[in-house]
Amino acid sequence: MLLSDIPAPSVRPIPRSETASVLERLQALIAADLEETNRIIVEQLNARVELIPTLGSHLINSGGKRLRPILTLVTARMFGYTGRGHALLAAVVEFIHTATLLHDDVVDKSDRRRGQLTANAIWGSKAPVLVGDFLFSRSFQMLVEYGDLKVLRILADACAVISEGEVMQLVVSNDLATTEAQYLEVVSRKTATLFAAAARLGAVLSGRSEEEERCLADYGEFLGRAFQVVDDALDYASSNEALGKSIGDDFQEGKITLPVIHAYHHGSAEERHFWSQSLEEKARIEGGLQRAIQLIRARGSLEYTMGLARQLAEQAKAQLRHLPDSRERDALALLADFSVSRSF
Ligand code: IPE
Ligand code: IPE
Ligand code: MG
Ligand code: MG
Repeated sequence: MLLSDIPAPSVRPIPRSETASVLERLQALIAADLEETNRIIVEQLNARVELIPTLGSHLINSGGKRLRPILTLVTARMFGYTGRGHALLAAVVEFIHTATLLHDDVVDKSDRRRGQLTANAIWGSKAPVLVGDFLFSRSFQMLVEYGDLKVLRILADACAVISEGEVMQLVVSNDLATTEAQYLEVVSRKTATLFAAAARLGAVLSGRSEEEERCLADYGEFLGRAFQVVDDALDYASSNEALGKSIGDDFQEGKITLPVIHAYHHGSAEERHFWSQSLEEKARIEGGLQRAIQLIRARGSLEYTMGLARQLAEQAKAQLRHLPDSRERDALALLADFSVSRSF
């Protein structure tokens, strides 16, 4: 049987109700490209084993902001790229993101994403790990088919660094001695790396200068850091409904994120004892999450965290200076603001 004989699962468009107007404007700017990217995603999700497209499309069809493919598409358009490679690479970038999410939800024992049950909540942990592996493998099949060694290297390197970030996060979990610098190192690796690669690809595809590639990679790096720092604030500040994920997952899993680092270091001896019991000794204290949220609020740790995110977003925007003055460049600046002001 040929891959092409297997019917493609249908994809429903990104639900508009789940996206803020800023995101809609960004998506609208490259609507046709994004549609082509979604088509490729559906096509490439085909496999001989039925569970792969079923589980894969459960997550892929459930929406998602598509920020990383948007970065590749918008940066390619900024340089007037007219080929077809950008939609393929955007699909690969979203596949890599999806694979990391499937694995991440198993590791984090998360039961909710994009407003619905996670794959591990439905199928258990084995299937999403294996389907995540399929998505990584299919990504590299697609890249080999595309045949550009530089692009292959950028995304292969990114995958290795993302995995390092996730492992590093595991190593420092439950350890309140984790420093802000170590936290940011994890953030950079596990999240910002893919944003940086996705943004850089637009310049690579268009054959632009090393300098322009670097500007976009740095923009993506700062944007990705800002994005993850906000994600870590939202885990204590949002609601399940708004976020589409279960808040408090980080606390339950003993992740030492910036709101916790700040609240711990600014807390009284009694507060530090609470953090240590909850996160280091893994004691299941009744009402623990509520207390954690209350302490994080009382110590101004969300303001501190969001302040850093704003600085990072400003640094991202500063990288755009030397790029062509265009509506795509304006969109990239808007995306940096969106990453900080978002509630989902
Ligand atoms: C979730 O990323 C993982 C993080 C890096 C925090 P997104 O918030 O971009 O996830 P989707 O694709 O929009 O669901
Ligand atoms: C994102 O970190 C990790 C990846 C890069 C896959 P999180 O664990 O904070 O992401 P969410 O909150 O589950 O989306
Ligand atoms: Mg997670
Ligand atoms: Mg999170």
